[in-house]
Amino acid sequence: MHLLALLTGIILLHATVNGSPQPSAPSPTGSSSSSFPTTTKYPLPNLGNVAVHDPNILHHAGAYWLFKGGVHLPMYTAASLAGPWTPLGTVLDGPSAIPKQNRSRPWAPTAVAWNATFYCFYSISKAGSRNSAIGVATATQLDLGSWSDHGALINTGQGNGSDIYPYTVSNAIDPAFITDQSTGQPYLLYGSYWHGIYLVPLAADLLSVTEPERQNTTTNLVYVPEEKVKPVEGSFMSYRDPYYYAWFSHGKCCGFQTGFPAAGKEYSIRVGRSKDVRGPFVDQDGRQLTAGGGTVVYGSNHGTVYAPGGVGVLSGAEGDPDVLYYHYLNTSIGFADTDAQLGWNFLHYEDGWPVAVSGDNSTGTSESSGVVVGPDYTLHVGSFIFVWGCLWLHS
Ligand SMILES: *[C@@H]1O[C@H](CO)[C@@H](O)[C@H](O)[C@H]1NC(C)=O
Ligand SMILES: *[C@@H]1O[C@H](CO)[C@@H](O)[C@H](O)[C@H]1NC(C)=O
Ligand SMILES: *[C@@H]1O[C@H](CO)[C@@H](O)[C@H](O)[C@H]1NC(C)=O
Ligand SMILES: *[C@@H]1O[C@H](CO)[C@@H](O)[C@H](O)[C@H]1NC(C)=O
Ligand SMILES: *[C@@H]1O[C@H](CO)[C@@H](O)[C@H](O)[C@H]1NC(C)=O
Ligand SMILES: *[C@@H]1O[C@H](CO)[C@@H](O)[C@H](O)[C@H]1NC(C)=O
Repeated sequence: MHLLALLTGIILLHATVNGSPQPSAPSPTGSSSSSFPTTTKYPLPNLGNVAVHDPNILHHAGAYWLFKGGVHLPMYTAASLAGPWTPLGTVLDGPSAIPKQNRSRPWAPTAVAWNATFYCFYSISKAGSRNSAIGVATATQLDLGSWSDHGALINTGQGNGSDIYPYTVSNAIDPAFITDQSTGQPYLLYGSYWHGIYLVPLAADLLSVTEPERQNTTTNLVYVPEEKVKPVEGSFMSYRDPYYYAWFSHGKCCGFQTGFPAAGKEYSIRVGRSKDVRGPFVDQDGRQLTAGGGTVVYGSNHGTVYAPGGVGVLSGAEGDPDVLYYHYLNTSIGFADTDAQLGWNFLHYEDGWPVAVSGDNSTGTSESSGVVVGPDYTLHVGSFIFVWGCLWLHS
């Protein structure tokens, strides 16, 4: 009972602090509240018809392969982004080899095809904790359940390498992948809150970080100097000649069942660009992403789509448009993390800046090289308390 009282108190406190307008939850019958952003600046999503938080999608052999966080990392396949999505089982046979937090429930995977091998990077963490790790599993076939887990390649908080910068100041979750187009050097992006998002070089077999002690090879890509907590996570990097695009999710991802932040403080999908994979990245107003910059490409809209994030891009081959995909909450479905839906839009580029467009009748996307993913159940410290409150309420 003490626990209940404590949690209730903290939840009320948190709701007050985070307060401002508190849109009421939708009625069970599904009428949406006018308190949700009704802007038509962003198009409605094309429906993915699958519930997923932090989606990651690979296009390979004419099919789409969806990876998501959850018990042992669930995998699905579909012939179209609209589904139907067939569950294939899980990437891992059991708990991750990484000896920290809940090894059974990795978050926010990112799958990559590289050197005739499939890699699935994943996160092990706990909401509100920086004692995290990014692990990796590999397989030679996507559909065989034959993945091998190689354990951690990055640790923060505790574990091998966690005493080396930038692992001393960052949170090892939300992996994403990019290759330097001119040198072929592979990189991992990761990070959430704390000191934001980092880019680190990987060894050619993608199983370790190159010379982690040589700190000048790492780059802080996204940072918000002026805010006490840095609500940036779930990064992704895409390339479209001549720019690299650094995407990230900004704001509050989860825990909306118990209250909503001020309008605009919920997740939105932001971007900056650079001609160098290592940056500096700037937004459309010329503001650096390390100075709090980031152009919003997709945000809550139409009173229906709320807190989109967990972004990824499928790069269209010649002549095909890129696809922006993400999760969002449908205000007439619900606000639990498990209610998040897969949505997607084609991207147009205006003066080299991506714009999400409506419609789903393009001939679609083609093979994407390495791809990737999103934010997750990571919250700032206040929201962490929320999650525990919810867990308690649900248990
Ligand atoms: C870890 O996650 C699994 C799967 O969600 C769950 O059954 C188990 O209770 C969790 N363990 C702990 C210690 O929270
Ligand atoms: C610890 O990390 C270093 C690289 O930072 C690596 O060379 C070494 O093999 C790792 N040790 C273990 C036990 O994983
Ligand atoms: C690429 O794959 C081949 C065949 O599996 C392997 O022998 C080689 O070591 C791999 N290269 C790297 C850099 O991992
Ligand atoms: C990092 O520093 C080493 C010397 O310690 C230098 O050889 C290397 O070129 C530097 N790398 C970058 C990317 O600046
Ligand atoms: C939201 O959910 C309603 C009710 O299920 C559905 O009719 C509508 O198409 C959904 N819209 C989006 C954008 O998911
Ligand atoms: C695709 O949509 C555009 C604009 O709505 C329309 O002009 C075109 O006919 C459509 N193409 C197909 C194949 O449906």
